[in-house]
Amino acid sequence: MQAAQIIQDFWDSLKDSLKEFQNPLHLPVFGTISSRQVPSLRKVVLREVNIEKRFLVFYSDYRTSKIQELKVAPRVCWLFYEPEKERQYRVYGDTKVYHTNEVACKYWKKLSYQDQKEYHLRSTPGTTYPKDKLEIETDSQEAYQNFCVVITQIDEVDYLELGVEEHFRYLCTYQQQEWVGKRLVP
Ligand SMILES: Cc1cc2nc3c(=O)[nH]c(=O)nc-3n(C[C@H](O)[C@H](O)[C@H](O)COP(=O)(O)O)c2cc1C
Repeated sequence: MQAAQIIQDFWDSLKDSLKEFQNPLHLPVFGTISSRQVPSLRKVVLREVNIEKRFLVFYSDYRTSKIQELKVAPRVCWLFYEPEKERQYRVYGDTKVYHTNEVACKYWKKLSYQDQKEYHLRSTPGTTYPKDKLEIETDSQEAYQNFCVVITQIDEVDYLELGVEEHFRYLCTYQQQEWVGKRLVP
């Protein structure tokens, strides 16, 4: 199997997963490097993919640790696993955060009221829980200030497919406008 085919299958599977909340590809792991220089991993909801631009998109609260980490180290890793096909994808790329700008506004408008409510907490995520109760913002504009869109442009995929006889591993890299690759020892 060639790099282009692996990448095409990957995008096809990701696109399908966007409509299916139960699909494991819809809930990847997103990895950054923490301020203590250790890997920092968390689940996110994959919101959009753009094949031409090689974009993976999720939403977050601008005040979370991962956003601070991205300011220092924008190179990230996403981990996807398809249990049915026993395929793992470790995906690398550079990430940008969009906050209170045209891009963030476009995505914010697409969110349901229920989804927008995720950003209504006045207390900062990851800080100590207050003595009484959490302060909720009522103003949607204030909640919008907490919202951001995180977009990774991917350029490397380390693919592993488990097999009964032998596993298959292939490293795909984006170079000079195309995906190229080489088979690796699994
Ligand atoms: C199934 C699942 C989906 C999640 N989706 C998101 C998401 O799309 N965006 C997000 O910022 N956090 C999401 N979270 C919460 C993160 O995993 C994490 O706990 C939170 O964002 C704080 O991470 P940080 O302190 O490393 O920034 C999700 C958690 C779970 C369990």
